[in-house]
Amino acid sequence: MDFNQIKETGSEYLFQNYGRMDLAFTHGEGCYLYSTDGTRYLDLVAGIAVNAIGYSHPLWVSAMQAQVARLAHVSNLYHIPEQAELASRIASVAPGDLKRTLFVNSGAEANEGALKVAVRYTGRGKVLSALGGFHGRTAASLGATGQEVYRNSFEPLISDAFQYYEFGNCEQIKEMVGPDTAAVMVEPIQGEGGVRTASTEFFKTVRDVCTDRGALMIADEVQTGMGRTGKWFGIENHDVVPDIITMAKGLGGGAPIGAVVTTDEISAVMTPGTHGTTFGGNPLVCASGNAVFTVMKEEHLVEHSHDIGARWMSELRAIGSEKIKEVRGNGLMIGIEMDSAETAAKVKAHCLSNGILVNVCHGTTVRLVPPLIINDVQKAMFNKALKECL
Ligand SMILES: Cc1ncc(COP(=O)(O)O)c(C=O)c1O
Repeated sequence: MDFNQIKETGSEYLFQNYGRMDLAFTHGEGCYLYSTDGTRYLDLVAGIAVNAIGYSHPLWVSAMQAQVARLAHVSNLYHIPEQAELASRIASVAPGDLKRTLFVNSGAEANEGALKVAVRYTGRGKVLSALGGFHGRTAASLGATGQEVYRNSFEPLISDAFQYYEFGNCEQIKEMVGPDTAAVMVEPIQGEGGVRTASTEFFKTVRDVCTDRGALMIADEVQTGMGRTGKWFGIENHDVVPDIITMAKGLGGGAPIGAVVTTDEISAVMTPGTHGTTFGGNPLVCASGNAVFTVMKEEHLVEHSHDIGARWMSELRAIGSEKIKEVRGNGLMIGIEMDSAETAAKVKAHCLSNGILVNVCHGTTVRLVPPLIINDVQKAMFNKALKECL
């Protein structure tokens, strides 16, 4: 199919729930995507913080090919070696005594799972989450999403278990966490909310208040996990160990996988039958996760994310344009706050016409979440395009 046929067929047969750009890709390699008309694009979106090791990494491709040829899916009725291996690798990098993993299929499902764990462990029914946050589109994860724009018209599906706090407001956390609070959810950096973070004091306050009052602290690391922020997990930038971490995106390097990671003690409440999913952690997606781990370790991508991200942010700050209000983030999760939605849209369009893909979130924030293998030459390509546009 050529591009027009793809577009026409999609518009006839697909739900029209995405605002898609006039682009379709045939293949990718490293940090580049190739469109149907043969144009090469430097991809600073990475499937929205998914393709951590870039496209078509040879080690990942051969691991996936071998796994498909051997065994793609088998039920969780049986032991799955690739799953056990991936769980042990997550435990080896997770902070504190977070060591047990439940595999699911997406970020939203990981958050649903974490909420079930929290409610069952505490026997309580209220969940606090941040205004401006994003936790997914399923009923409970949507309930936890503190942005009305996503919840509007789905209210009948959303329980009254959810209450929202102002991200970064320590006093509010101290006031709101009560005897009926099962969990406080935090994103170490709000991704969809515009690449916004809060102070270390805030995350420590959440930790302390949860410990004092018997609530669980859930860190949604769906976007910030797997080295994205220059540490394996974004919450490590604040020296805080939550009770539960949720993951997805970068974990699978393109395969749909999510994970709930917690302690021995907390995981013990999830006895057989309390939760499950047909596809969760099947051999194929776990082989993918294992290959991602191998590449990340061999190529030191967490350290690279930290170093190149820090250099990039100082270069962006040094541009010193009045149209750039702020540059924020950690590692390779960078938000450039423009002076208006119009400027952000112009930057995106100028980049596109120069063969660079960027994403704008929250209207005014140009978000950079490239593959973690991005190099200085590629970083400079974006800087040049940004300066030209400004
Ligand atoms: C922090 C966070 N949590 C949850 C989700 C939902 O993940 P998924 O789209 O895989 O359900 C996202 C997706 O953008 C996210 O950024």
